[in-house]
Amino acid sequence: MPNQKTMESFNQQINEEIFSSYLYLSMAAYFESKNLKGMAHWMRLQTEEENMHAMKFFDFVLQRGGKINLSKIEGPKTDWASPLEAFEDSYKHEEKITSLINNLVDLSLKEKDHAANAFLQWFVTEQVEEEANVLEIVEKLKLAGDHPEVLLMIDKELSQRTLTTTPAPNN
Ligand code: FEO
Repeated sequence: MPNQKTMESFNQQINEEIFSSYLYLSMAAYFESKNLKGMAHWMRLQTEEENMHAMKFFDFVLQRGGKINLSKIEGPKTDWASPLEAFEDSYKHEEKITSLINNLVDLSLKEKDHAANAFLQWFVTEQVEEEANVLEIVEKLKLAGDHPEVLLMIDKELSQRTLTTTPAPNN
């Protein structure tokens, strides 16, 4: 029998991950509009990663015999004052997701749902990486300041990104 409380919160997390995907797609569109193709590419891959996160929760709920209840996805912000502001928003968003994952871990412990707890460990590690990756870009953009040539160098660097997420145990 799946734990109902865990399954409900995992359904909610599917929504959060899809919203993350939607937010990064919106940021990709913003960077495309500024002709910053490398940053747009980075955000497109981030969108794919978030879809993959959502699907991991989706598959786990099904594996446990739980019910999938998809809910309405909020509309993301669509404009930013600068590339730095967009990446700062991205960092704040990842901090929020980390705290949601931590809440899920707390719930799994409270409910003694060991399978959910084991599954969530991958996300705990993934969030460390997610935050570190974005923070590195934020710091570089702060250093770039008002120098367009440095901004273009960062854009070129971000165009090299490939998907390197470690596989989850259930893959
Ligand atoms: Fe799925 Fe970026 O957290």
